[in-house]
Amino acid sequence: MRNLNIFLTLSFVILSRIYLFAGEGMWIPMLLQQMNEKEMKEMGMKITAEDIYSINKSSLKDAIVLFGRGCTGEIISNEGLLLTNHHCGYGNIQKHSSIDNDYLTDGFWAMNRDEELPNPGLTATIMIEMRDVTKEVLEGVDDDSMSMIIRNSLVKENIKNAISGFEENSKYKAKIVPFFKGNQYYMIVTETFKDIRLVGAPPSNIGKFGGDTDNWMWPRHTGDFSLFRIYVDKDGNPAEYSEDNVPYQPKYFLPISIDGVDEGDFTFVFGYPARTNEYLPSYAVELITEKRNPDKIDLRETRLDIFSKYSNKYPEVRIKYASKHARVSNYWKKMIGESAGVERMKGIDKKMEFEDNFVKWADESETPQYASILIEFKKLYTKLEPLQVATDYLNEAGMAIEIVKFANTYKKLVGISKDASVSEKDIKTEIEKLKQNNQYFFKDYYQPIDEEVMSALLILYDENMPDGKYKPEFFKTIHGKFKGNYQAYTKYVFSKSMFDKENKLGEFLNTYKANRYKKIQKDPAFEIASQLGSIYNNNIRKQVLAINNSIDSLSRIYMKAQMEMLPNHRFYPDANFTLRVSYGNVSGYYPKDAVYYAPFSTLEGIMEKENPEIYDYVVTERLRELYTSKDYGEYADEDGELHVAFIASNHTTGGNSGSPVLNANGELVGVNFDRCWEGTMSDLMYDPNVCRNISIDIRYFLFIVDKYAGAGYLLNEMSLVGSN
Ligand code: ARG
Ligand code: ASP
Repeated sequence: MRNLNIFLTLSFVILSRIYLFAGEGMWIPMLLQQMNEKEMKEMGMKITAEDIYSINKSSLKDAIVLFGRGCTGEIISNEGLLLTNHHCGYGNIQKHSSIDNDYLTDGFWAMNRDEELPNPGLTATIMIEMRDVTKEVLEGVDDDSMSMIIRNSLVKENIKNAISGFEENSKYKAKIVPFFKGNQYYMIVTETFKDIRLVGAPPSNIGKFGGDTDNWMWPRHTGDFSLFRIYVDKDGNPAEYSEDNVPYQPKYFLPISIDGVDEGDFTFVFGYPARTNEYLPSYAVELITEKRNPDKIDLRETRLDIFSKYSNKYPEVRIKYASKHARVSNYWKKMIGESAGVERMKGIDKKMEFEDNFVKWADESETPQYASILIEFKKLYTKLEPLQVATDYLNEAGMAIEIVKFANTYKKLVGISKDASVSEKDIKTEIEKLKQNNQYFFKDYYQPIDEEVMSALLILYDENMPDGKYKPEFFKTIHGKFKGNYQAYTKYVFSKSMFDKENKLGEFLNTYKANRYKKIQKDPAFEIASQLGSIYNNNIRKQVLAINNSIDSLSRIYMKAQMEMLPNHRFYPDANFTLRVSYGNVSGYYPKDAVYYAPFSTLEGIMEKENPEIYDYVVTERLRELYTSKDYGEYADEDGELHVAFIASNHTTGGNSGSPVLNANGELVGVNFDRCWEGTMSDLMYDPNVCRNISIDIRYFLFIVDKYAGAGYLLNEMSLVGSN
């Protein structure tokens, strides 16, 4: 027993080294009082947990929205004014842009309500409340006797009943989400707004300053914000766009502090982190950081090099590929940082050390049934590896060829054309959809890039995917008929296919008859897509699902076991796209030996980076004027400088973009938009020494709206507080 005690103390030390530090954690709003309030106050917070999340009175949570499907936003006026990142509004700003009104390049400012631009399809969702429904969801579950399949279907049934039970009596929507790998369940009750209009966006020279070059890095100088407004019907309810709609009056909106933050200040981030995986076994971390990331990095790099080659040469290609480049590059860079970060912190060794101790604990305590968990994990991940690698190549090589992915969108047309029971009308509807989609595709398509990408990716695909059931048939054609000449095969595909020829394809659709589906089927680009599809459907999908089901089950048990092993340890659930609070302090860090990064960047740094020759570092005339005249008004810091961005030890991830960064009083001091390079592994393992979130200083936002854009009238509806 004494041994066990010593051992438990020891494993706690090791565990705390892996798991929890100031700054680490994405906490559940309704549990803040119980789990975090004390610590938050010790760190400097002056408000209460109840001020952040309450179901009895208005609270900060009423001002936080899930913006679109992947970002966070916050309400900053009594008239539904919504602040988020420029990169979150990017797609919508782009949709409103044309050569004549290029809002991406020039920025956009509605000078009155009538000029605000609607965005069909864009939504903003507010969480009304959350409830612990673990008991209801696990009703009837007997872990000792039930098979995984029966357990899963019972849980599913309970969830369905709980949701319909709630929704029958409510105007709100509900969903139920597992936490701690299915050891707990919460019901999330939400209201979704559907008339969200664009109010303002800075030019890309500001909103995307530094571009992909500075992405995931500090020091940073990006004015990454855009403004929207939520509209509702006359009764204050969510409604689709209508001229008669009125600005939404929120239950609460965030006051904005113009006092700035100092090093050491307490801050917290309130938003929608999407996915983290902090409790993975070492095998899984190894698979991600040493196999899957490197594969995908190579494939993406190949693509990006080709994009850049043409974009640097032709300005119109740069515009076409701006969004694609940003998308591919974002996670390409993130994966590099993540793998390097885990290696730097010897993450896999640390996990293994912990696992050894876990096994010892399981052996020595009364829970020998836990002892085999890690062996089981190892077996499952070994089985999963080739399937995941095959999927990665399918997506990042096969489907990354634009013409192939595009041809694949014709699958449905082929399916319904073959089906005698489908009416002509339905086929017509599908054709109209495809025509729409064609427009989007060709607007941003540059064939020479795609052709070069195709042969480059095919080579990597062929070299790295062993022959066998995961390898598409067309490689046989390449090695047979085309004698291993990838370029020749690619040329053949492009010359024969209609999917890179806008007019031909348009013509084909205009005269389409159901019996012509064979022409699609025989198209070589479509054929490639079909082969990829069959490999996925026949050899991957079900197999992965089965393994993942077992992994999920095992993860639930592993999570529970870890919680039993360390009853005094404060665990936080992995991010799952539900509203969370992270907190930390404004602080710089040492990225490497003898180098210290200060926690603030200023306009001075923008001028240092300025380079009219480099797209990412162009500074507009107007900003330079304001800099030269030092016309910062009340937005200057005490130090006389205009602060642009700051970093803090808040634990954030994708989805947190656009999240409010709040000070000890719960006032808005920043908008989160990224993380620092050395800490990009925080989705797998958090290192308090280097994990920092990056936020735009709210005063830079105000400065740009007011001084730069001359849209200062927007400030009238905001509530600015502070003593400056
Ligand atoms: N890295 C940030 C996030 O993951 C910003 C991405 C947008 N910016 C870009 N240059 N691609 O979303
Ligand atoms: N840039 C990310 C986002 O868009 C945030 C992050 O990953 O830190 O959500």
